[in-house]
Amino acid sequence: MSLKFDFNNMFRSSVGDHGVSQEDVNEILPDAQKAASHLKKIISNPKARVKLNLEWAKLPEQSKADIEQIQKLGQGISKKYENVIFLGIGGSYLGLKAAQDALCLPYYNEFQSLRKKSPRIYFEGNNLDPDTLKTLLKNINPRKTFVVVISKSGETTETKAALMLVEAWLKAGVGVKYGRQILAITDAESGSLHKRVAAEQQKDALSFRSFPLLKGVGGRFSEFNMGLLHLAIVGVNISDLFAGAKEMFARCSQDDILKNPAYMYALLHVILYRKKAKSLAILMPFSQGLKSTADWYVQLLAESIGKKYHRKVLASADGGEDWLSDKDYLFAKGRTPISAAGTNDLHSIQQNNIEGENNKVVTFIRVEKFKTDLKIPGKNDLLSGKSFSQLMQLAQEATEWALVRESRPNCTIIMPEVDAFNWGALLFFFEMATAFEGELQNVNAFDQPGVEGYKNYMYYKLGKPGISQAVAESIKNNPLVKNPEYIL
Ligand code: PA5
Repeated sequence: MSLKFDFNNMFRSSVGDHGVSQEDVNEILPDAQKAASHLKKIISNPKARVKLNLEWAKLPEQSKADIEQIQKLGQGISKKYENVIFLGIGGSYLGLKAAQDALCLPYYNEFQSLRKKSPRIYFEGNNLDPDTLKTLLKNINPRKTFVVVISKSGETTETKAALMLVEAWLKAGVGVKYGRQILAITDAESGSLHKRVAAEQQKDALSFRSFPLLKGVGGRFSEFNMGLLHLAIVGVNISDLFAGAKEMFARCSQDDILKNPAYMYALLHVILYRKKAKSLAILMPFSQGLKSTADWYVQLLAESIGKKYHRKVLASADGGEDWLSDKDYLFAKGRTPISAAGTNDLHSIQQNNIEGENNKVVTFIRVEKFKTDLKIPGKNDLLSGKSFSQLMQLAQEATEWALVRESRPNCTIIMPEVDAFNWGALLFFFEMATAFEGELQNVNAFDQPGVEGYKNYMYYKLGKPGISQAVAESIKNNPLVKNPEYIL
């Protein structure tokens, strides 16, 4: 059983004028065909894939031997340690957290019977709030803790600061060989973390072991690369995950756009964005375990499509393409993603979804079979004898109905169950849909220049060497204006 996609409520036949018409689809189809051919051309060319950062499309095809090696490494860590701390932020964190919440049982850290023999998992380095890391380090034993630091660049302030602290804590707790309790997932060829790994390993081969990030895979598209060790540590079957992703790749590679779920998802959203001003994208799984997957999607859509400039595609000397930011062709658009969860947010954002501005599209994820279920006791209440999963599905159906009644477009992803196979398929679906949306909107979906602004400001204020003259001048000459009149 695999995922199904119900797009009925995106169309006029369900939501009237706020929906997509057949003419809208016919109008966009020629551009969509071109977008699909272009994406196919890049994905089927190994050199172009790596150069343009689309290598993620091939991650599910990793060899059996590679998968076994990762599972073995994970099992080794799992057997030896009580706690594993993962340090990373953005694309180096959100996929792991999404996997943890989707594929492990809730309260995993609290109860050993749920973890079986796996360690407790903690995520740090994803914020500069001192309280979480300090509390964690105060309460766990460094001798029983393994640390996995994930950073492609090795330069990210949040991760770097957390690693420096954790290193000092490990060193104080276990002595000079503390590096044997650290593993780095980073770029295989460059960056400061890569250099650190090389230097440490020269001194002691068991210190700062490392696991390379593959070339041409950006952070937010890399769960099937950088997330694998985490999956192995918590005992998820990576082959099942890849089987789901591969099946989805086949479904999302078909040329008939009207039958291609990822392309239809992107195309219908783009039509509603352009023609009906539906600028908010709310992802609302009806599953607590999938809330973090919705958070993962927020990053995927926001960083991939929210761009200032359109993409300029140029023929390159190697016979391929170069993608540049076209400074003469302003885009400054992109649907704004919001993560929510049913049924919690039916008592929150749902009021606005139903009666506020009709400027959004809600995507539901409906789970057919939960990991467990509960039957409500008694005989005399209308809830008696009903199961929680039954009520959850009814609540999702009711929300869908209520939106349709108010002419609010929405669609539903139907997930047979939240297991490795289907979760792998779900992630891959969103990645393909986002890549296709980038093609339709003609933006580079695989860079994130907008994230640099705050980083540069911090680096400048911290006195980091190597800041370009232009960046330094722009910060110096444009300070934040703090008019006391407006500070109350
Ligand atoms: O998607 C991305 O590329 C970003 O979100 C990065 O993952 C994030 O900025 C962290 O970068 P790094 O892995 O270099 O620490």
